[in-house]
Amino acid sequence: MVFLRKPEEIVKIRKSNRIVAEILAALREKVKPGVTTLELDQLSESMAKKRGAVPAFKGYRGYPFSLCTSVNSQVVHGMPSGKKLRDGDIVSLDFGVCYEGYYGDAAITVPIGAVSEKASRLMKITEAGLYKGIKEARAGNRLGDISAAVQDCVETAGFSIVRDFVGHGIGKNLHEEPQIPNFGIRGRGIELKAGMVFAIEPMVNEGTYRVKVLRDGWTAVTEDGKLSAHFEHSVAITEDGPEILSVVQN
Ligand code: MF3
Ligand code: CO
Repeated sequence: MVFLRKPEEIVKIRKSNRIVAEILAALREKVKPGVTTLELDQLSESMAKKRGAVPAFKGYRGYPFSLCTSVNSQVVHGMPSGKKLRDGDIVSLDFGVCYEGYYGDAAITVPIGAVSEKASRLMKITEAGLYKGIKEARAGNRLGDISAAVQDCVETAGFSIVRDFVGHGIGKNLHEEPQIPNFGIRGRGIELKAGMVFAIEPMVNEGTYRVKVLRDGWTAVTEDGKLSAHFEHSVAITEDGPEILSVVQN
């Protein structure tokens, strides 16, 4: 069942997502060569606690960290470690919190120092695909309109859409119905209504869309070892169209 959130609930989901956006913005500033992903994880956790928010991922299905840090060929759910980020890497920072019973979830992919033209284009197209999808998140549209818009943007640019992981509804739980694939067919799927809140999160690969999960049970990597990027926003469908909740100011 897909929940329709009341305006008072949207206020709370907005608050949680704003906290997530503030923390991601702060982390983005910390990312440079020599920084470890574990340092970013600890920072994300302390910033959440300072704001009275609970990191949403820690303990979720046994995930042991507050932040997901997916470097280069890691697609999603990369686990923070003592390994230093290096010039030329790209890293996806995926973070969520629970605040007063409601969840926020967002992700950005950030360059470390000077990255290749290919990496830079991959990040740009992934974010563009996210925004194309968000534009379709309006009452009267179908879920497939979001999926198809993301897919079209990404594939036209020559990159591929990960199939094995998808976006999701969000609200009183981190993951709610519906699943939101980043590939699909316009006009198909459930009808979108005001009050629905979606975490839209394209994962885009430079080469094959195929991924595998490492033996740690979490880290998803590209099958061909090529780069992957990931951007995510939580978005409310309002009477006036999509509202991106995971922003610092709105
Ligand atoms: N944004 C990711 C998702 O929605 C992060 C989840 S990490 C987990 O799946 F540890 F919580 F699973
Ligand atoms: Co998510």
